[in-house]
Amino acid sequence: MKNTILITGTSSGIGKSTVIEFAKKGWNVIATQRNPEKESDFKTFNNVKLFPLDVTNLDSITKVFQKVKEEFGTIDVVVNNAGYGVDGAFEAMSDEVIEDQFNTNVFGLMRVTREAIKAMRPSGGGTIIQISSMGGKITFPLYSIYHATKFAVEGFTESLHYELAQFNIKLKLIEPGPIVTDFYGRSRQFIKPDYTNEYDTFIAKFNDAAAKVMKDAEGPEVVAKMIYKSATDNSNQMRYAVGKPGPMLLVLRKWLSDKLYFLMVRKSYNL
Ligand SMILES: NC(=O)c1ccc[n+]([C@@H]2O[C@H](COP(=O)([O-])OP(=O)(O)OC[C@H]3O[C@@H](n4cnc5c(N)ncnc54)[C@H](OP(=O)(O)O)[C@@H]3O)[C@@H](O)[C@H]2O)c1
Repeated sequence: MKNTILITGTSSGIGKSTVIEFAKKGWNVIATQRNPEKESDFKTFNNVKLFPLDVTNLDSITKVFQKVKEEFGTIDVVVNNAGYGVDGAFEAMSDEVIEDQFNTNVFGLMRVTREAIKAMRPSGGGTIIQISSMGGKITFPLYSIYHATKFAVEGFTESLHYELAQFNIKLKLIEPGPIVTDFYGRSRQFIKPDYTNEYDTFIAKFNDAAAKVMKDAEGPEVVAKMIYKSATDNSNQMRYAVGKPGPMLLVLRKWLSDKLYFLMVRKSYNL
């Protein structure tokens, strides 16, 4: 029998590459999107099924899990990939901007995780893979709210794994570094105050340095391959760092003092 995987946020980037990776490996893939009517890249795979799912809408989540139960019985792997990044000056971020960011990256991931547990526990287990970020363990300037969401995902997942081990449900955290996707374009929400220009120099320096980092960044396929590894390696490893220079930065953060790490970030952004 084929394995079944459900993935959120598959219209572009890491989600789309992950659908293709698992489809090529012969899995039944439940690809979910906010607007599936626009999708045409999965037509060549008869093992990919497309469903509408918005992680901020619980009803859309439960409907998909119900359909998967009817059609496939069990679900082996769920990938919580849907997410986006707010960046910019925190003082200009409204409650709405902050709440929307948490509603997708944290509460949306929690809603899907809850339905995944309800589906996996009675059927003897499974694997829930959270697309966190290197930004769930280390921080950079101007991403305070995004980092807060990914730090939340890390803490939530780490604690949850204790109670789910008894049901043979594994939890994995994928921690990508900078990856070339729509994250930095279409999906980006950049917030700048319109009542002061006091952040302008800081933002310009940050944007310069960030553009240089992106020149060397890898594509979403490397993350898709790491997700496949985490789903199939039969290990209890929780964290998987991927996407240069993410893994190296995570090691540095582990060994450097706060003082040295902050100095390194300030220097690399010319701040
Ligand atoms: N790119 C990076 O450097 C990087 C690094 C570390 C972690 N990540 C994480 O990787 C994940 C995927 O991002 P990406 O880089 O592949 O960016 P992306 O190309 O912008 O893809 C984001 C996906 O999330 C979907 N999405 C957003 N809000 C949603 C919602 N409410 N419900 C369902 N789907 C929703 C988007 O769908 P729509 O088309 O409907 O907007 C899109 O399919 C995110 O969790 C991100 O935080 C990215």
